[in-house]
Amino acid sequence: MSSEPRKILVTSALPYANGPLHMGHMVEYLQTDIWVRFQKLRGHKCTYVCASDSHGTPIMIKARALGITPEELTQRFSEEFVRDFADFGVEFDNYHTTHSPENEALTVEMFEALRERGDIYTKTIEQAYDEKEGMFLPDRFVRGTCPFCETPDQYGDACENCSKTYTPADLIDPISVISGTTPVRRESEHYFFKLSDYADRLKTWMDGAKLDRNVAAKLNEWFESGLIDWDISRDAPYFGFRIPGTEDKYFYVWLDAPVGYPASFRNLCERRDDLDFDEYWRPGHDTEVFHFIGKDIMYFHTLFWPAVLAGSGFRTPTSVFAHGFLTVDGQKMSKARGTFIKARTYLDNLDPNYLRYYYAAKLGPTIEDIDLNLDDFIARVNSDLVGKLVNIASRCAGFIGKRFGGQLADELPEPALFERVRGASEKIAEHYEKREYSKAMRLIMSLADEANRYIDEQKPWVMIKDESQIDTVQRVCTQGINLFRSLMIYLTPVIPEVAGRTRDFLGVDMWRWEDAQTPMLGVTVNKFKPLLTRVEKDKVEKMVEESKESLAGAADVAADDEYISIDDFMNVDLRIARIAKAEPVEGADKLVALTLDIGELGERQVFAGIKAAYALDELVDRKVVVVANLAPRKMRFGVSEGMVLAAGPGGEDIFLLSPDDGAEPGMRVK
Ligand code: MSP
Ligand code: ZN
Repeated sequence: MSSEPRKILVTSALPYANGPLHMGHMVEYLQTDIWVRFQKLRGHKCTYVCASDSHGTPIMIKARALGITPEELTQRFSEEFVRDFADFGVEFDNYHTTHSPENEALTVEMFEALRERGDIYTKTIEQAYDEKEGMFLPDRFVRGTCPFCETPDQYGDACENCSKTYTPADLIDPISVISGTTPVRRESEHYFFKLSDYADRLKTWMDGAKLDRNVAAKLNEWFESGLIDWDISRDAPYFGFRIPGTEDKYFYVWLDAPVGYPASFRNLCERRDDLDFDEYWRPGHDTEVFHFIGKDIMYFHTLFWPAVLAGSGFRTPTSVFAHGFLTVDGQKMSKARGTFIKARTYLDNLDPNYLRYYYAAKLGPTIEDIDLNLDDFIARVNSDLVGKLVNIASRCAGFIGKRFGGQLADELPEPALFERVRGASEKIAEHYEKREYSKAMRLIMSLADEANRYIDEQKPWVMIKDESQIDTVQRVCTQGINLFRSLMIYLTPVIPEVAGRTRDFLGVDMWRWEDAQTPMLGVTVNKFKPLLTRVEKDKVEKMVEESKESLAGAADVAADDEYISIDDFMNVDLRIARIAKAEPVEGADKLVALTLDIGELGERQVFAGIKAAYALDELVDRKVVVVANLAPRKMRFGVSEGMVLAAGPGGEDIFLLSPDDGAEPGMRVK
C-alpha cells in the first residue's frame, strides 16, 4: 500500500435515546463499522465516534410519562445501545451523549460566532400552544383532520393519506396529543439562522464533497426552491441547552445534535494524546471527516450542518454518505407481522456475523432502500459464508491437523490461483472505499468458488488413501488454507469475529490488508475449530415470533414490571353492561348489589362500592364498563361475578365510566 496513512474521522448518526435500536438502525451502524474497520485494516488512522441524541420534546414527554427525568431515560437507553452495538461488533472509539458539557460548550461557541457575524436574528412567530400543559406544541404533537382530503387523525405537518404538507393551524379540529385539548395560537419570539445567505458557500462545498448522485440531485432541488432561514430555538419547557442570555429559550435539538459529533470527539481527545481536536475540526488541516447518515436526515447534514460549521470557524465535512431505508420481506417493518425486529431480539437468536454479511452483500453507495428478505437471508448466508467460504477451510484443515501435525507445506502447488486472489486485492479495496460492499462481496465469493473448484478437482480425500500422494495432499491443503486466509483478510471488516477465530487457528494476533499478498508457508497451525454454523430456520422464525410478542411493552425502557404485555391486556374481557337492578346491601354502607345485563354473556351479580356517589334509582338502566372475566369472588354478602369500572378517589367522588349512547350490552370494549 502506498504513501502516508490518512487521518480520518468517521461518524454515524446519533440515535434518539428514547426507543430501542432495530434492524433499520443497524443498516447504518454496520455500514459505517465495516468502512471504519476497512480503513484501519489498511493502516490508516481512522477514528469512529458516535453518541446518543438526548434532547428534544419527544424525549421530555416520554420521560414525563414514565415519571423519570430525561437524563435517566436517555441514560438507560444509552446503556442498552452500548451493549447492542458491542454485541453486533460495532466498535466505536467513543460513544458519548449530546447532553454533555462538551456539547454545550461547542454549541454555544458556534451560536455566538454566528451571532457575531450577523447570521442570527429573532422574529416573533405564532405556534400551537397547549394551555392545559402550558407548552408550545411541535407539529407532530398536534393531530386533526387533513384540510385537503379530510382524512381524520393526521399529524400537524403532513397528511399520510394525500401527502400534502401544511401547518397545525390548517388542521380541521386540531387537538394536542399530550392533553387532548384544543390548542390555541400563541406568539413567541424565536431565533433564526440565516441559511438563505449560505447558498453559494454550500454549492461550493457540495462540489468538493463528491456526493452520491442522488444526494446531489436532492440538494439541487433544495437550492432551486430556495433555502429558508432556520428556526433554531424552542420555548421552555424543553429538554436541551438554554440559549445564553435568555430565561426560557432553548436550542432546538437539531442544532446541537450534529454538534454531538465534534463534542464526542473532543471528549475522546481528553483521553487520547495522539488526537488533536483542532486538527480535525478547524480549517486548514489534511484530515478527513465523513458522516454516515440515513436518507431521511440529509437536509440537516448537507445544508444546516455545513452552513453552521462554515459560519462559525469550523471545518466542513469532507463528505456525507447517505443510505436508504430498510424494508423487511419487501415491506415497511411491522410490529403486527413481527418484522419490527429489535437489535436485541436478533442477538438473542442469531449470530451477528450473519447480518453483517447479509447487509454487506446488499449494500451499495446509494440511497436506494435495502430489503431484508428472511428466506433470502437464510439461503444467502448458508450458501456464501458456510457453503463457500468456511467450507474451503474445513475441507483442508482436518488433513493438515491429523496427518501433518498442523504443519503447512513449504510451497504452493498452484501459484497462479493464489495470484488471482492476491491480484484482486486493490479492486476489492476500491469497492470498500466507495462503499460498494455488494460488489466486494460478489468478487470475494467468486474467488471462493474458484478455491472450492480447485479442491473439488484435487480431491485430497481420495489422495489421502494413497501413501505415495501424501505430500501432494499437504500442498493442496496448504493452497486451500492460504486461499481461505487471503479471502478472510478481505472479509475482516465484515465478519471480524470469524476473522478472529481464523487468526486463532492460524496462530496470528493481527492482520493488515497487505498480509493477503504473502502466503503462510512451512509454519504450524492450531487445531481447527468450526468457524461458523448454518443459520437455522427455526431460530429466524423464533425471532419473528418474539418480535410479535414484544409489541406490548413496545420495547420500551425500564424494568419489565412497569408494564403489562399486550397479552395481559387482551386477557381482560371488557364489556358494556346495562344495570338492570340496583339494590342495597344489608350491613354494608359502601356497597350496592348490581344485576348486570351483559348481552350475550347473560346476567351477572356484581357488588360495587359506589353507594355514596350514586342514588340507586339513578343507576338503573345506566350503561357501564365491566370486567367480565374476573374470577368470581365470594364476599361476605354473596358472590361477586365481575367488576364495574369507575374513576376517582372514593366516597362521593366516584365516577362510573359511561359509554356513549349506542353501546349495547355485551359489546366488547377495546
Ligand atoms: N437523532 C437523529 C440523528 C441525529 S444525527 C446528528 C435520528 N435518530 S434515529 O434514531 O431516528 O436514527 C438514527 C439513524 O438510523 C438515522 O441515520 C436514520 O436514518 C437511521 N435509520 C432509522 N431507521 C431506519 C431504517 N428503517 N432503515 C435504515 N436506516 C434507518 O435520526
Ligand atoms: Zn390529506
